[in-house]
Amino acid sequence: MTQSGLLPSQRHLFDIPGDVAYLNAAYMGPMAKAAIAAGEQGMAAKGRPWLIRPEDFFTDSEAVRALFAKLVNATADDVALVPAVSYGMGVAAHALPLKAGQSVLTLAEQFPSNVYPWIEKARQCNAAHVTVPRPADDDWTRAVLALIDERTAIVALPHCHWTDGGLLDLVAIRRACDRVGAALCIDATQSLGVLPFDVQAIRPDFLCVGGYKWMLGPYSFGYLYVDPRWHDAPPLEHNWIARQASEDFTALVNYRTGFQPGARRFDVGERSNFALVPAAKAALQMLLDWGPETIQATLRHRTDAIAERARAEFGLDSVAPDRRAGHYLGLRFTEGVPPELPAKLAAASVFVSVRGKSMRVTPHVYNTDEDVERLFRVMKDALS
Ligand SMILES: Cc1ncc(COP(=O)(O)O)c(C=O)c1O
Repeated sequence: MTQSGLLPSQRHLFDIPGDVAYLNAAYMGPMAKAAIAAGEQGMAAKGRPWLIRPEDFFTDSEAVRALFAKLVNATADDVALVPAVSYGMGVAAHALPLKAGQSVLTLAEQFPSNVYPWIEKARQCNAAHVTVPRPADDDWTRAVLALIDERTAIVALPHCHWTDGGLLDLVAIRRACDRVGAALCIDATQSLGVLPFDVQAIRPDFLCVGGYKWMLGPYSFGYLYVDPRWHDAPPLEHNWIARQASEDFTALVNYRTGFQPGARRFDVGERSNFALVPAAKAALQMLLDWGPETIQATLRHRTDAIAERARAEFGLDSVAPDRRAGHYLGLRFTEGVPPELPAKLAAASVFVSVRGKSMRVTPHVYNTDEDVERLFRVMKDALS
């Protein structure tokens, strides 16, 4: 850390060439060299399966569970290992009660993995699916609070909106959920690891995260925090390792009714993936070493500077800093993104995402000042 409390660029830990400005963590985070090496080692072990011992099915999975728990201030018992947010929210939708006439709340333009399971659940239960309209002033918290009422049974939200980083005050929303007895289900894929999340403060019923974006982990590996009040709920699927005493490979056909403790019953089948788990473990360790608070401050500093310069040089607007997550920026083009801009950026090895009328700029700890200069050079060329 520097004296200012910000992290210096961690580019040296990544395999990103100097002339590539990768400003697209919201699309897919790169794995660091250490995580790639750990994954390669794990993959190689599968070439010598006689060396893979029964305990290896548990050791790294438990380590990863404990590291994720540390990141969100939970215990390892509260964490299940899942391949995707759609799976984790499938678990949540399967577990949570919903009665006819009640409702499930999601945001306008929310990412589908935290919407489809609820549309389906509402359909099955004769309940309503309510969409919170996009607020003109970007105050999603107020917009959500205005729609929580006695009918609301499930509130399914992100921590920040995936289109432009619009931030939600989940502590205030939890309080409103408590008042009407609603469950809170969070998809934090676009924030966890780089924006602090304390399950003791927010008290989500379920919190799911895809690990391949901001968490810099492998694809198809994510995490599901389950509040203890749901640990006895039925899992989505019935795999052998989630059952009691599965450590004893000689006795697996002594079929058990009991499960492994806590949220482990919600683990996906074959969760002990020998290539993915070591890579995920290395990635989690790095995030914990840097610390989400420090990463957030570092990325806030960078996106604020980009936002100010984009306004000054090109008149581009974005969500105000106090309503936007610090790591996330959507530059708004009122007339739409000029059609030639994406191609010009890609040709200059500047990687961002265009979503509707916005250009999403999402840096991480590997970015440098030179990456930002490269972005503005291309924008100047294309826009002036
Ligand atoms: C907010 C959010 N959630 C989840 C995902 C990925 O969902 P899944 O893990 O179900 O593929 C994405 C991918 O862009 C996302 O932006």
